[in-house]
Amino acid sequence: MKGAVLTAAAVLAGCAAPTRSFDQARALPIPPLDEGELDGTTRRFELTAQSGEYEIQPGTMTPTWGFNGAWLGPTLYMRRGERIEMRVHNGVDEPTVVHWHGLHLPAAADGGPALTFDPGETWEPAWDVDQPAATCWYHPHPHEVSALHAYRGLAGGIVIADDESDALGLPQEYGVDDIPVIITDAKFTADGHLDETIDPTYGLLGDTPLVNGITQPRFEATTRRLRLRLVNGATMRFHNLSLGVPFHVIATDQSLLSAPVEVDEILLSPGERAEIIVDLAPGAQLMLRSTGIPRRGGLPKEAAQGFGFEDTFDLLEIAAPADGADPAPLPEGLSAAVDTLDGPVAERELRLNGFQINEQSMDMHRVDIVVDHAGRELWHVTNENDDWPHNFHIHNARFQVAEVKDGAIAFADGWHDTISIPPLATVSLLVEFGYYPDPTLAYMFHCHMLFHEDQGMMGQFVVVEPGQEPRLGGH
Ligand code: C2O
Ligand code: CU
Ligand code: CU
Repeated sequence: MKGAVLTAAAVLAGCAAPTRSFDQARALPIPPLDEGELDGTTRRFELTAQSGEYEIQPGTMTPTWGFNGAWLGPTLYMRRGERIEMRVHNGVDEPTVVHWHGLHLPAAADGGPALTFDPGETWEPAWDVDQPAATCWYHPHPHEVSALHAYRGLAGGIVIADDESDALGLPQEYGVDDIPVIITDAKFTADGHLDETIDPTYGLLGDTPLVNGITQPRFEATTRRLRLRLVNGATMRFHNLSLGVPFHVIATDQSLLSAPVEVDEILLSPGERAEIIVDLAPGAQLMLRSTGIPRRGGLPKEAAQGFGFEDTFDLLEIAAPADGADPAPLPEGLSAAVDTLDGPVAERELRLNGFQINEQSMDMHRVDIVVDHAGRELWHVTNENDDWPHNFHIHNARFQVAEVKDGAIAFADGWHDTISIPPLATVSLLVEFGYYPDPTLAYMFHCHMLFHEDQGMMGQFVVVEPGQEPRLGGH
């Protein structure tokens, strides 16, 4: 009844949709911006994985994990051309490791499962930032328990900046008009703990969505234009995101687009990012919503419900300032870096089925693919299941969607490192790897529904010099 009255009032006021708001809104937490310690062009970071407790839901303290704090981690800031020296301390009571999702770096710094280290130990990866401005993120990658460690809170954002993107006049004041929006989810036990029950089909799919770690967040904007860095950090959940007004996508996983693209919604599978620009009308109140996956993502009804594809959530309330100058037109061109794509050096087929890729489960001692060149490869990735969603992520790489057969990718423009593979579709990816030959350590490719990854839906590739043989674990 109440809903009906509201709707009628909204129609009277001439609104397209009733204004939504939370009943227990709290200020959106902005993860601290960690710029490390800059020494010339070297940036040094210290991260400690630790346990603690956090008020995820109003009035309840929940035991959690985090980096340099109780829950989630700081946003790491780095610039193209810099050397990164990282010290990661394991202060939790289980072996873990941190993967820098989206970064191009040597396998010894990538944080794959082979690099897992024990409680009390410190891991010190180092690399050069040699990729364009982007929103990336970091999360754990220990063998078979990545989902659980991420779910407990070991995840944070990474902002890579460069001179080219700085000069575009885009919002870039962190926490003011440049806002990290890290979407995860949880389920809770009756006493307010994180429910770690792993469902045999849906893993740790949570029923309570969180933005930057809390329920019912509200952001009071002080500017009329916002850049939102959307990170789908959920372990299993796909989100189709809308704001009730059109917005511009300016970047996908790996870099800025060549030009802004206006959309009404954007689909992000687990692990994917997008940067969007939203212009706020004075006094407007917006709601970032997860609206359900269009056409159930190609799944039959029952599967769609099980995987949460029909769920809708209010995620983040955004209040516009009462006044302020109209935002300037967005730049017409953003990035010149969409170079012509040379033909691939090699083609490969990857068939996703159940928890396996090409009928095989992850084996840390098996090399699935050897990349012995700096050229591009064309990977044809098929989801052979008609009733399961999957997506696909490649470490130390970026790719463009070259072709989609028997399905559709809602937003295929730009450079990605993670993408949905709809049921029965084949998505062909033109892949460019970071070329850091090392025959002794592998990079991963996997489904980024982390329960699938933990169940073995992952393979290993090794990058070597032309003609060189991989020798995992060798020296
Ligand atoms: Cu974000 Cu191997 O993963
Ligand atoms: Cu990754
Ligand atoms: Cu999968």
